[in-house]
Amino acid sequence: MSKKKLNVGLVGYGFMGRTHSNAFAQVNHFFDVDYEPVRKAICARDAAKAKAFADQWGYESAETDWRKLIERKDIDLIDIASPNNTHAEIALAAAHAGKMVLCEKPLALNRKEAEKMVEAVEKAGVPNMVWYNYRRVPAVVLAKQLIDDGKLGRIFHYRAKFLQDWTISADLPQGGAALWRLDVNVAGSGVTGDLLAHCIDTAMWLNGGIDQVTAMTETFIKERKHNLTGKVEKVGIDDASAVLARFENGSLGTFEATRYARGHKALYTLEINGENASIAWDLHDLHRLQYFDNHDEGRVRGWRSIHVTDSDHPYMKNWWVPGLQIGYEHTFIHQAADFLKGLSEGKTPAPTFRDALATDYVTDAILDSAQSGTWKQVHGA
Ligand SMILES: NC(=O)c1ccc[n+]([C@@H]2O[C@H](COP(=O)([O-])OP(=O)(O)OC[C@H]3O[C@@H](n4cnc5c(N)ncnc54)[C@H](O)[C@@H]3O)[C@@H](O)[C@H]2O)c1
Repeated sequence: MSKKKLNVGLVGYGFMGRTHSNAFAQVNHFFDVDYEPVRKAICARDAAKAKAFADQWGYESAETDWRKLIERKDIDLIDIASPNNTHAEIALAAAHAGKMVLCEKPLALNRKEAEKMVEAVEKAGVPNMVWYNYRRVPAVVLAKQLIDDGKLGRIFHYRAKFLQDWTISADLPQGGAALWRLDVNVAGSGVTGDLLAHCIDTAMWLNGGIDQVTAMTETFIKERKHNLTGKVEKVGIDDASAVLARFENGSLGTFEATRYARGHKALYTLEINGENASIAWDLHDLHRLQYFDNHDEGRVRGWRSIHVTDSDHPYMKNWWVPGLQIGYEHTFIHQAADFLKGLSEGKTPAPTFRDALATDYVTDAILDSAQSGTWKQVHGA
């Protein structure tokens, strides 16, 4: 049966532009969904680079101004994979034009912008979703299933960390291509919005809402040369963030994100301790879920390492044969598949813009707490 075409206009051809393009290209090979994403247009400011990306990734055309992309009648969906300071303006215009909108995380520079984005997509009634892709790791989905089945019982602790080491050098400039994450005007915040936001999104999905936080942040390198001005300027981002949190279900959370953990490139780990069982997961070993069940017979009780590759594991029947694992890029393919399935069913799968706003409420409270040195109630909690 022929598929319904969904014409995609992608903004940004960097790291995420590639993961999304790969997802649009692969999704119909592995998932039986009614819609087929058509790579209609890529938009980036440099015409030659945009054209080269279009050729490499099979886009039919290239634009250099996202406003023109949104005006195009042949585009159904705008996918925002550009830096954080561009998300709100593009999403508002896309929603206003009646386009579906997918957006990278964090949803916006701050919660005020994010609220406007939620209002815009909900008022326009357009399908919307944010690429918090770790919700689509099969092992993390298995963790969600075990928690929802009540296997852990009452949950006491949730701890997560996301560690990197790529900004330790004081000689690294801030701003411009590749280094926009160090420029607070473009990124909104440092590791709190970039890395910790992933931990918070997964945490609230697995363990429910967070209502209070207290945090400390640090900017280890206070000044860096700015690539766009050529001058040494104050660094406005947080380099590291450490958080204590209270969940609505009474459990305690500890979160840490940093780009100053020498030796760690992208170590996202989480552990959840319940009265009957515990769960642990590690991005570097993403196809495994560690599980301890206190109900096991004492002589053989211990942490088991579940290789999440069997056909009854989440998403895995769509891939190879049991025992063969998948990787990082598949999380985006899963998210694209769920979005397309949702279109047929008239539903927008989570995380929607509203779900991502809840994460922005927590990250804003974390940054407020770090400034004031006091506990903060999370907005809306
Ligand atoms: N889901 C995840 O795990 C994940 C991982 C990395 C980045 N991200 C998010 O994805 C977004 C992009 O990050 P990235 O790592 O791909 O960045 P990147 O620097 O690799 O790519 C950004 C792209 O946006 C383009 N761009 C910048 N301004 C633009 C404009 N005004 N119009 C059109 N294009 C513009 C740049 O040319 C570049 O192609 C950010 O919001 C980031 O937080 C999410």
